[in-house]
Amino acid sequence: MCIFCYLLKLLLLLSVNIVLCMAACNNAEYEINGECCPMCDPGKRVHKHCDEFTSTTCDSCPIRTYTHIPNGLTECLPCSVCDTSNGLTVKQACTLKSDTVCGPLPGYYCIDSLYNCKRAKKHSSCSPGQYINQTGTEFRDTVCEHCPAGSYSNGTFCILHTDCESLHKTTIREGTDTTDAECSDGASLLTVILSVCGVCLLIFTVIAVIFVKKKIAKKQNNGSYQVTNTQDTNLSTF
Ligand SMILES: *[C@@H]1O[C@H](CO)[C@@H](O)[C@H](O)[C@H]1NC(C)=O
Ligand SMILES: *[C@@H]1O[C@H](CO)[C@@H](O)[C@H](O)[C@H]1NC(C)=O
Repeated sequence: MCIFCYLLKLLLLLSVNIVLCMAACNNAEYEINGECCPMCDPGKRVHKHCDEFTSTTCDSCPIRTYTHIPNGLTECLPCSVCDTSNGLTVKQACTLKSDTVCGPLPGYYCIDSLYNCKRAKKHSSCSPGQYINQTGTEFRDTVCEHCPAGSYSNGTFCILHTDCESLHKTTIREGTDTTDAECSDGASLLTVILSVCGVCLLIFTVIAVIFVKKKIAKKQNNGSYQVTNTQDTNLSTF
């Protein structure tokens, strides 16, 4: 056995012996000036230690102090304060027999809690392109996840990109994980081009028809003159 271990063992035995020697009073008593005095109940403290003739006299704890176990204390313990600057709020007010219980403020979670929350931190918010997979609790931060492909978010939940084609529109800009796709307003470019061409064709056709009709009319007029003239000539010949 190493010397260190041996010394440690010796020290342990020694301290146990010391405790045993000192623990002359029973569980419900405390030792003061070599005397065993009865303890005060939880919520109380010693007003006057006992002596040969009188028992311990106890007082109630003053406000904002407490004792949670039978004790021989002359002062009660101060109640813990739930500091909002540490992200804390009172979950259970202090009583004579119990300390204040602190909890995280709404929207905060405890980062240092053994039996009582000592400090809390604000829930983190998810970035654009992410969604909240698990909302934060008193004990756990928010859990963010990336939006699946084809969707976008502002940091709360994911929305599918608008499908411009299904709306009979054209895509001006593809969607990203933070922005929606952008569609052209109203009709698609193709429709616009076709409409313009159609109108042009109509106007051209109308003009062409008018032109051709005029030409035909002129030709017919010339023909009838000739016919008349011929008749005239014929008449004059007769
Ligand atoms: C989201 O949270 C659930 C539990 O609520 C978990 O099972 C799942 O794996 C999480 N999703 C992702 C993508 O991590
Ligand atoms: C995200 O969008 C939702 C609904 O569209 C809105 O309620 C929320 O305030 C927005 N969050 C942020 C961080 O912009």
